[in-house]
Amino acid sequence: MQSRQSKMITTATSYFMSQYTKHYLHVEKPSLGLPPPPENKKYLLYIHVPFCTMFCPYCSFNKFTYTKEAALIYYRHLREEILHVKELGYDFNYLVIGGGTPLIDEEELITTIELVRKLFSIEHVSCESDPNHINPKTVLQLDGLVDRLSVGVQTFDDTLLKKLGRYEKFGSGEEVYAKIASMLGILPITSVDLIFNFPTQTQKGLIHDLETLKKLSPEQTSVYPLMTSSLVKNSVKKTLGEFSLENEFTFFSTIKKSLKELYPARHGWSFSKESDLIIDEYIIDNEEYVGVGSGSFSFLKDTLYLNEFALDKYATLIQEKASAITKERTFPANSQMYYRLMVDLFNGTLSKKKFTAMFGQSINTALGKELMLLKFAKAIKENKENITTTDYGDYLFLVMMKEFYMGMDRIRNEARKNLIL
Ligand SMILES: C[S@@+](CC[C@H](N)C(=O)[O-])C[C@H]1O[C@@H](n2cnc3c(N)ncnc32)[C@H](O)[C@@H]1O
Ligand code: SF4
Repeated sequence: MQSRQSKMITTATSYFMSQYTKHYLHVEKPSLGLPPPPENKKYLLYIHVPFCTMFCPYCSFNKFTYTKEAALIYYRHLREEILHVKELGYDFNYLVIGGGTPLIDEEELITTIELVRKLFSIEHVSCESDPNHINPKTVLQLDGLVDRLSVGVQTFDDTLLKKLGRYEKFGSGEEVYAKIASMLGILPITSVDLIFNFPTQTQKGLIHDLETLKKLSPEQTSVYPLMTSSLVKNSVKKTLGEFSLENEFTFFSTIKKSLKELYPARHGWSFSKESDLIIDEYIIDNEEYVGVGSGSFSFLKDTLYLNEFALDKYATLIQEKASAITKERTFPANSQMYYRLMVDLFNGTLSKKKFTAMFGQSINTALGKELMLLKFAKAIKENKENITTTDYGDYLFLVMMKEFYMGMDRIRNEARKNLIL
């Protein structure tokens, strides 16, 4: 049970973060596109594939109804954008493909991955999928091209799956389990995405999800707290019921405890059997990245860049050989320091040496007051080299990260106004 004091601190932190993201997370300035890269630097490339055959009520990612024709045109433009980024001089060692549903058109996906592998120094490829494209035949085609496949399961509970509309589209919890079991081991890493704290979810239901996951035993899992930004609040309420934060702390403690043995390496809300297996939360892990495709983000040095969200406008920009980036925002130094503090402690440890190397001053000088407050809240511990989180700190930084993601949704919301889905 969460104490009254820690509940108050959590609420205040949540409020502070939402005000902070309201202030900072707007991208309004017109952009001319990516700057030329420095020599010999390798980045992470994110590719967005914005098509789905159904829309889940909780999902705020940029997506459109799938048609074969629209996807073919889109993938062709995507590859042109990738060539444009190559011409600018960029090189990449990591590729992350997310959506939407990247595997919705397998052949186009494979052609695109092959192109990226040919153009750049790629060492690792990670890709998302819904359960429908998970079968040994499809996955075998990705062998040697994709290192990590993360499959959206969300829950194994049939009552919840029915409410989400996923039971009809992707099958029952048992069927999804069998699909994933049939392809485990083909690729180096299979990861399973779950969501916790759905309205009406009980502790018993959560434990059932966690026990089923452990029995399935993929190499990794991400267990996200349900995020209900203004983009999805109403659809969550309509399909699942009133959302509440009442159980979130207890649920997160249950998850950590339940997964500790089989998945000892924890990284925010992601868990891995081995600590040296890569976990791709690209926004979290990478200080800089380039995004291509409609509705993707890039972050370079101190600036966030936003690609065009509307498919027709995205297509026109590519056909005119213009940059698909339309807007940007440069962040002041102090907001970058806050961001580093949040991201590193979300992952459990902040290295003081790394902070000083990044910002030219020690964290104790730059963010002394913030550290004092976090210590007072019993969220962090400090030694000479590192700052680490306590058990309660793990939760507090999850709350902050969740608010940050919901802030990013505000940017999506602004960019998606007037779009036809
Ligand atoms: C962009 S989705 C793509 C997954 C794939 N299309 C599917 O449906 O299986 C990637 C993951 O983000 C997570 N996600 C999406 N919306 C979320 C939300 N509102 N709260 C928490 N997690 C969310 C889900 O776990 C999902 O599997
Ligand atoms: S969760 Fe997956 S299938 Fe559902 S709307 Fe989001 S991207 Fe599409």
